[in-house]
Amino acid sequence: MQRAAGVVSARVRGAGRSHERPPVAANVMFRKRLVVALEPEQASLAQFDLYLYDVMTSPRLEGQIVFEYGTLLRSTARWRGIRVLDVGTGRSTLPAWMGHAGARAIAFDLSTPAEAPLAGFLDRVNRFVGRPVVGLQRVSGSMQCLPFADDSFDLVTSLSVVEHLDTDLPRRTFVPYAEQQRRLARVLDEMIRVTAPGGHVYVTSECCDFDRATADRWRQAYYYDEGPALSGAWPVRDVHRLFYDYVRDRGCSLVGGNQFAAADIDREECWSWRGPYFSAFAMLARKDGTPGGRLN
Ligand SMILES: C[S@@+](CC[C@H](N)C(=O)[O-])C[C@H]1O[C@@H](n2cnc3c(N)ncnc32)[C@H](O)[C@@H]1O
Repeated sequence: MQRAAGVVSARVRGAGRSHERPPVAANVMFRKRLVVALEPEQASLAQFDLYLYDVMTSPRLEGQIVFEYGTLLRSTARWRGIRVLDVGTGRSTLPAWMGHAGARAIAFDLSTPAEAPLAGFLDRVNRFVGRPVVGLQRVSGSMQCLPFADDSFDLVTSLSVVEHLDTDLPRRTFVPYAEQQRRLARVLDEMIRVTAPGGHVYVTSECCDFDRATADRWRQAYYYDEGPALSGAWPVRDVHRLFYDYVRDRGCSLVGGNQFAAADIDREECWSWRGPYFSAFAMLARKDGTPGGRLN
């Protein structure tokens, strides 16, 4: 009930407020300073429903989801009418927020998602307090072989998903790193394939300096049953090659350039709630070609 009251009071506080929205870096490692600049996006999302209120305001997440969702919102000038595919939605209601903002959104996940949606009492409260869900369709399948035609979307998003390529689902077995990299390449190829020329791909994931990290507060949430003590993140020194260079080599350009620097993992300000030497990052790429996309 406290969260429900939070959603309502966030709406009251937000009513009538307008904000300056200078651009923020979208290809960058998480740092706490960036979260402060995303206060308007945080406020807008927190008003939507119980799920978004929780992830926008929860002290335990130390602003990581504000960074991931807020950077996307700040970089998106218009939602009305755009076709969005969200890959690996899980229990997130961000695609529902997009639908409410006017997008035609598809929430895509495995037929048995690894994380269950809101249920029971919380779901009933949410139906009462949350904004109505419009313009949202759900489709099941694997992100390694997306069941959509080429060039179908103006925006493809995937937030906090691809670090789970360390697990073969639904068997929950650990996937060796060489194979994780092959699967990531397939997933990025698929996301680029279904994005229309001029459209955008936005991916967030996690990174870590595994030589120095010794513990992970997220450890109990790993998807595999047996495997290494630390995982669920890309080695920070591989992020350039696996993400930014990879999409650039496949006909995309990085919006606003690339500010991701692996050495930033040394800075405490960049550490996420998972603990020392863990961080997150965002990638926003535009698929080059004749503009058809309407993101900006
Ligand atoms: C951390 S959860 C959801 C993250 C969510 N996007 C968010 O913003 O909080 C990761 C989701 O990715 C989904 N997933 C994992 N592997 C997948 C695959 N191969 N294809 C589609 N979805 C997948 C899982 O089922 C799970 O729901």
